[in-house]
Amino acid sequence: MKITILNGSPKGAESVTMQYILYIKKKHPEHEYNIINIAQTIKKIEKNEERFKNILKQVGDSDGIIWGFPLFVMLVCSQYKRFIELIFERNAEAAFENKFTFVLSTSIHFYDHTAQNYMHSICDDLKMNYVGNYPADSWDLLYPKRRARWLLFAEEFINHIENNFPTSKHYAPLNIRDFKYTPGKIIEDTRKIDTHGKKILVVSDETNENTNIGKMIKKFKESFSNEIEIVNLYDIDIKGGCISCLQCGYDNKCSYIGKDGFFEFWEDVVMTSDILVFAGVIKDRYLSSRWKMVQDRAFYMTHTPTLIGKQMGYIISGPLTQIPNISQTFQAHVEIQDSNFVDIITDEFGTSEEIDALLHDFARRLVTFSKADYIKPITFLGEGGKKIFRDDIYGRNRFVFLADHEYYEKHGFYDTFPQNDERAKKMNEKLIPLMRIDKVRNKINMKQEFLRPFTKVIEDPNK
Ligand SMILES: Cc1cc2nc3c(=O)[nH]c(=O)nc-3n(C[C@H](O)[C@H](O)[C@H](O)COP(=O)(O)O)c2cc1C
Repeated sequence: MKITILNGSPKGAESVTMQYILYIKKKHPEHEYNIINIAQTIKKIEKNEERFKNILKQVGDSDGIIWGFPLFVMLVCSQYKRFIELIFERNAEAAFENKFTFVLSTSIHFYDHTAQNYMHSICDDLKMNYVGNYPADSWDLLYPKRRARWLLFAEEFINHIENNFPTSKHYAPLNIRDFKYTPGKIIEDTRKIDTHGKKILVVSDETNENTNIGKMIKKFKESFSNEIEIVNLYDIDIKGGCISCLQCGYDNKCSYIGKDGFFEFWEDVVMTSDILVFAGVIKDRYLSSRWKMVQDRAFYMTHTPTLIGKQMGYIISGPLTQIPNISQTFQAHVEIQDSNFVDIITDEFGTSEEIDALLHDFARRLVTFSKADYIKPITFLGEGGKKIFRDDIYGRNRFVFLADHEYYEKHGFYDTFPQNDERAKKMNEKLIPLMRIDKVRNKINMKQEFLRPFTKVIEDPNK
């Protein structure tokens, strides 16, 4: 059996994810394992058409395909995303059709589900026979029981191919609406929104002003009585995607420093803004790989929040609600920064007039919330994510991400461990012994006990 592995790690052969493949190879040497370093060599693949075609040939000659990659900022890395874009741009889907496949990721389980969902939908778009996914923790291979379950999964994949077992589809093809957004007449000066000195930045990857997104950005800008800044990602000197060297872990110094202009953009333009609006067109099942490159490169600040207290939102063109995965990552990006997720305005529904009104009101809300320093409570997306970071930086990844650790310690992140919650500790010390007494337990009305502190707030005229 010939298995081709499309390696999505920029580290190439030095990838942790590929150790999972080598383990299977050791246990089942009877099969052929063909690893192609996609992410590491993406520039060559993109430039050299023959190289790209050769990969398609290897895919076509294989019995099974494994998409194996590290999690990179809630998805695959930009280099791998670019490869996926090339498949569609160059009409190369046929090579993948009906191939048995599974998706292997390694990570610390921070948004591995969104990366997995993304790849699953891509497999369905390519009409592959998707057998399943394996969202491994990076360290799984170091534990006997976890090695055994990985082996079982891989063996079941081979079994699936050998027996031509059926596979199901989960993602319907995207339904793209044919709609031309035509902005209405210029907004009168009296309706324009004062920025109140807030620095507003729109970051976009759209180079054509006449597309829906180009026109939406222009209309949004027109909502304000003062200037706002619009930056195009193609005007920024970015030499390449994150190469996962992890030099940043120690002191947030990226190995690209002095080689391109990313840091000036991020630190002088993005980080200094009060209001951030990200704009783009949906490309396959996410934003473009250019956008992803920016998200990955911003990882040089590792797990330390750098956009705290901002108002953030998105202007998007494309079938957003058909891909809930995207909104989830957008919201999570904002929530883990302790910023306020305001909204996503799209051209997916409504007339041009309705979109105009939404864009205008988006502008109003961004400024109103910024003036009031309003940050709404975060959801599971931010809360869960931040806890994973906190635990990993405190624990096994502290030596890798010392800069994060120092920041977390200084800013009280570790005070949020439940064992440090003095109020809860005192309450438990007092109440648990009481709860063990049958008489007390039977007498207590838990609903009323829960309400007692709230009643105090409601009845206090000064609160
Ligand atoms: C730029 C970058 C972004 C990352 N983003 C995530 C993430 O969003 N979620 C996660 O759980 N792990 C994340 N990781 C951790 C890697 O996915 C993990 O260490 C992986 O096992 C590395 O595999 P590799 O050696 O095959 O590249 C990130 C690592 C890097 C370098």
